[in-house]
Amino acid sequence: MISIAIDGPAGAGKSTLAKALASQLGYIYIDTGAMYRTVALWYIRHGIDTKDKDAMLPHLDNIAIDVKNIDGVQHMFMDGEDVNGFIRTPEVSMGASNVAVVPEIRLKLVEIQRQLASRNNVIMDGRDIGTYVLPNAELKIFLSATPEARAKRRFLENETKGIFTPYEEVLTDMIARDKQDSERSFAPLKAADDAVMLDNTTMSVEDTIVFIKGLLEKI
Ligand code: DC
Repeated sequence: MISIAIDGPAGAGKSTLAKALASQLGYIYIDTGAMYRTVALWYIRHGIDTKDKDAMLPHLDNIAIDVKNIDGVQHMFMDGEDVNGFIRTPEVSMGASNVAVVPEIRLKLVEIQRQLASRNNVIMDGRDIGTYVLPNAELKIFLSATPEARAKRRFLENETKGIFTPYEEVLTDMIARDKQDSERSFAPLKAADDAVMLDNTTMSVEDTIVFIKGLLEKI
């Protein structure tokens, strides 16, 4: 099986790129952030503070997380419910970054991620894919762009989903999330030593795809 890891901060364009590449290559796209978001949603719905590890951990085994690929789209199921429509709010974004600090929660999700990669050719995006989840991935990309460019993209993407958070708030939340994701001690957001670093601030999605396909021809 072949694995491609795409890591980077929030709003770097990882999912747009990974989805396009997966459909062109016939690989399965796996969005690991959606898994952290689903766990966060569970705690939020049950009134449990996503910063309170001691309150969260006793429930971890009761959270049934399932990932299904339906017509090429990843759907997250929580206790049997399709929750794709509920995991992109600003509250869940910050909650996901909070729950992602907790090693026990990470290990539960990493197990699912590794299983998916063992059975399929995958393009997996996240924060720790190249460094921790799939250290032997055939190709690792660390995608970044300036915070302003990333916040602008997320702001525009939110608008299409009917989420009207002001740009300044999107930027502030994104910087806070990147800081927490980079500074946690277990599997932080970090480029793997053997990752290809790619700043796509001024690159189109098409240019980025062409560049990565060029790298794939060499593996
Ligand atoms: O990619 P995203 O914005 O949907 O991810 C939401 C949060 O989940 C992100 O702020 C950090 C966490 N996350 C993580 O810690 N490790 C991953 N592999 C993916 C996401």
